[in-house]
Amino acid sequence: MHPLSFLSPKTTVTQSPIHGRGLFANEDIAKDEIVAIKGGHTVTREILAELRPALGSAEIQIAGELFICPVHDEEREGSMIFSNHSCEPTIGVCGQIVFVAMRTIRAGEELTHDWAMTDDDDEEPMTCTCGSPSCRGVISGKDWQRADLQQRYAGYFSSYLAHKIQQVSNKE
Ligand SMILES: C[S@@+](CC[C@H](N)C(=O)[O-])C[C@H]1O[C@@H](n2cnc3c(N)ncnc32)[C@H](O)[C@@H]1O
Ligand SMILES: [Zn+2]
Repeated sequence: MHPLSFLSPKTTVTQSPIHGRGLFANEDIAKDEIVAIKGGHTVTREILAELRPALGSAEIQIAGELFICPVHDEEREGSMIFSNHSCEPTIGVCGQIVFVAMRTIRAGEELTHDWAMTDDDDEEPMTCTCGSPSCRGVISGKDWQRADLQQRYAGYFSSYLAHKIQQVSNKE
C-alpha cells in the first residue's frame, strides 16, 4: 500500500531512546526544510475515541475537534510520522500537517516536535521521557497556553493553535 504520510528521504524510522520507534535524520537537514507530511483521514474527536483502542496513538490534531489519522489497521504504519514528543524539539509545524526543521538538524539526530505545537485536549497528562535538560516532566494537552512556549515556538504552532493564541492575545 502506498503510504498515506510523506517522510523525507533524509529521514529513517528506528528505535528511539524516548519511546518505541522515532524519526531520525540520516543526513543533515536545513532549517525550514520539510521533513514529514501527515496523511490519513479527517475524523472527529468522537470517532478518534472509537478508533483509539484498535489503532493507539497515531493522530495529529488539525482543529479543535478534528484529527488526521489512519482508520484501518493496514493504514496505520503508512500514516505514522513517528515524531516523538521532546521538550527540546527539532521540528515544528507549518500549517497543520506539514512538519519542518526548526534549525539545522545533523545526521543521527532524532526529529521530535513539542506536542504543545499541535495538541489542545483534556486528556490525562503524559509523563515525559524525552530526557532533555529542560524537560517539563509532565506534558498536558493545554501546554499551548504557556506563555514561555508560545514565545519559543512562534511560527511553528499548528495554524489552528496560532489562531487561538492570537485570539486570546487580542482579548487581553
Ligand atoms: C504517535 S506515537 C509516536 C511514535 C511511537 N514512538 C511509536 O513507536 O509508535 C505517540 C506515542 O509515543 C509515546 N511518546 C512519544 N513521545 C514521548 C515522550 N516524550 N514521553 C513519553 N512517551 C512518549 C507515547 O506513548 C505516545 O502515545
Ligand atoms: Zn520532556
